[in-house]
Amino acid sequence: MSNKLNKRVAIIGAGPSGMAALRAFTSAQRTGTDIPEIVCYEKQDDWGGQWNFTWRTGTDHYGEPVHSSMYRNLWSNGPKEALEFAEYTFDEHFGRPISSYPPREVLWDYIDGRAAGSGVKDLVRFAHVVRWVEYDESTESFTLTVDDVKNKLTSTEVFDQVIVATGHFSFPNVPDLPGIETFPGEVIHAHEFRGAERFAGQRLLLIGGSYSAEDIGIQSHKMGARQVTMSYRSGPQGFGWPNGVDEKPQVDHIDGDVATFVDGTSREFDAVILCTGYLHHYPFLPQEMRIVSPNNLYPTGLYRGVTWQGNPRLHYLGAQDQWFTFNMFDAQAWFVRDVILGRVDLPSEAERAASITEWLDRYSAVEDDDAAVRFQADYIRDLIEQTDYPMFDLDEVVEVFLAWKRDKKDDILTYRDKAYRSVMTGTVSTVHHTPWLDELDDSRERYLAPLPAASGAAPSTHEGQPVR
Ligand SMILES: Cc1cc2nc3c(=O)[nH]c(=O)nc-3n(C[C@H](O)[C@H](O)[C@H](O)COP(=O)(O)OP(=O)(O)OC[C@H]3O[C@@H](n4cnc5c(N)ncnc54)[C@H](O)[C@@H]3O)c2cc1C
Ligand SMILES: NC(=O)c1ccc[n+]([C@@H]2O[C@H](COP(=O)([O-])OP(=O)(O)OC[C@H]3O[C@@H](n4cnc5c(N)ncnc54)[C@H](OP(=O)(O)O)[C@@H]3O)[C@@H](O)[C@H]2O)c1
Repeated sequence: MSNKLNKRVAIIGAGPSGMAALRAFTSAQRTGTDIPEIVCYEKQDDWGGQWNFTWRTGTDHYGEPVHSSMYRNLWSNGPKEALEFAEYTFDEHFGRPISSYPPREVLWDYIDGRAAGSGVKDLVRFAHVVRWVEYDESTESFTLTVDDVKNKLTSTEVFDQVIVATGHFSFPNVPDLPGIETFPGEVIHAHEFRGAERFAGQRLLLIGGSYSAEDIGIQSHKMGARQVTMSYRSGPQGFGWPNGVDEKPQVDHIDGDVATFVDGTSREFDAVILCTGYLHHYPFLPQEMRIVSPNNLYPTGLYRGVTWQGNPRLHYLGAQDQWFTFNMFDAQAWFVRDVILGRVDLPSEAERAASITEWLDRYSAVEDDDAAVRFQADYIRDLIEQTDYPMFDLDEVVEVFLAWKRDKKDDILTYRDKAYRSVMTGTVSTVHHTPWLDELDDSRERYLAPLPAASGAAPSTHEGQPVR
């Protein structure tokens, strides 16, 4: 790639956010813009980030911490119509309508298809772990120390701008529970959960009251767990759980295989899964460049949610908690690209600080989930308005999210069988040939098959689902 701008840009991580950054730069190049030299470092052997599933837990085949927290049978937990790229639609990729809640492999295929089609794979150095980033104020440049873990080589390279796209759902938050050390069964974090088959017939205690608890709980129910108990801290999720699944308040203490909750009730368990979320963790950055934040919609220290206030040559993508995902990463990537290209003027430090404060004030007024979705939509709109990323009807996507939330409240076991209309193309999704609860094969091949592969399945009971 040309380097007329005399700039070198490092992207750390080739998950959906890093891939969005790669696409953003090549999209500008296609319209005749000179772009900087780009190097993307990815510690895994392939791209896709969380969507690049591994059976491994703990460390990978290079001895590095395993990145993906996804499990084998994971299906999208939100409708694809809420995450669709505005400039690469599902119709374009699959050539025909598909259902609203695809499984993991199918979504990996979608993001892979767009990035591979942009010819950016050559810009990614796979199996390269960024170990350290050092900023030199006198040269206004970063030196990255990188391990090529396949060939066992360490090198350093100098860049003018760094984009951190390493995600923040990989390093587990592991709280201590009083007496957990006496528990005789298995204790894992959701990060290590790879499938629920082995929990068939067991009594599971899930700590946490958010997406991981809900999804692993329901998945375990699907796979035959005898009893699933979710223990919340702030408040119950409040879904209409099926028989054998329920919620309890916090664990007061554990003694052997008995957990006692703060309401005084007790239960016996066979296994414990900590669904207690993840930490922002950037071991390759000096402390003064690291986000220090809980998982929320506006981590502090980031101008427009992306550019590091302490050093505006450093940018983060995807650092927010995520209602919106892929299209938000695009909006962020296009904005950061334009900051780097000088198409978007960075205001003074004081003005950037005022902008951060203004957004944080708006965020502090968010009182419920509906307002949180609208807040994130407004945030994305603000970014897109400053770039040439195709604007899309964000209010309509908000409606998709609200309908999704209603569907979940109506029936947590069947919400994935609903059909939505694409905000980008107007295409109405199909209804998957097999209800999610009965579908035990999550492969791309099976998913895209026109009819159930297994004889005896009954797609007819599933027709006529209303379109959202
Ligand atoms: C269990 C789970 C389920 C989810 N399900 C959904 C869903 O259904 N729908 C949805 O839209 N979103 C879902 N998400 C949200 C998910 O975070 C986003 O979809 C998306 O993967 C975030 O992209 P990212 O690129 O920001 O981060 P990641 O996907 O985490 O990618 C970060 C990349 O950085 C690389 N990396 C990290 N450190 C280094 C280093 N030091 N050097 C080099 N490379 C490095 C990693 O290997 C990885 O490839 C889920 C998340 C989790 C944890
Ligand atoms: N199928 C899917 O697509 C799927 C499946 C799983 C996860 N995900 C995604 O993964 C991401 C992370 O979700 P997550 O649920 O792992 O994390 P999360 O949304 O950050 O939630 C963490 C949960 O852990 C609780 N918690 C933290 N510390 C605790 C403690 N000491 N004691 C008790 N509870 C504690 C929190 O309680 P408080 O509310 O009190 O803070 C919260 O309920 C989300 O983006 C989600 O969409 C997707």
